[in-house]
Amino acid sequence: MPKITTMEELFIDELRDLYDAETQLTKALPKMAKAASSDELRNAFEEHLEQTENQVERLKRIFELSSEKPTGRKCAAMAGLIKEGDAMVSHSDDTPVRDAGLIAAAQKVEHYEISGYGSARTHAELLGNDEAVRLLEETLREEKETDEKLTELAQSMINEEALTSVSSSTDGARTATVRGRSTSRSPHGR
Ligand SMILES: [Fe+2]
Repeated sequence: MPKITTMEELFIDELRDLYDAETQLTKALPKMAKAASSDELRNAFEEHLEQTENQVERLKRIFELSSEKPTGRKCAAMAGLIKEGDAMVSHSDDTPVRDAGLIAAAQKVEHYEISGYGSARTHAELLGNDEAVRLLEETLREEKETDEKLTELAQSMINEEALTSVSSSTDGARTATVRGRSTSRSPHGR
């Protein structure tokens, strides 16, 4: 990898990282959708796959604006996050507990992307690349919305069902704790 000495080069390097991260994600999301036991979560992953494909197109457009070839640079962070998600799936059964784990894995991915797009957007601003700022902000907004949607899914039925599957286990002490928590929580709503 050549040395990065200017803000322009740093910006292009950030784009290459994001491009590779999104490409990896277009391959991981169908697997995550397949692993989800709830229809709602599966739909959320499928919707985000469509968005991710558009996000790849936006990155290509920014490369074009900068007269750079749209190529990636292996994003080790995204590879690691996907690997951890895979490991969680292979160590769990097809239950709401796995769904809760899939949401957690997906939110780690979203937070990585939010941070990457946030920095790239700021650097595009500094470089006076207004069209890139606009495109990066569009993606940033989608990533934030996806993150919020995943939080809502985690708080609603999925984790509620995951707790129920703990309370039906044979572990008496844990059962009591979980039941106590859910009873005390319900009068206040969520
Ligand atoms: Fe994305």
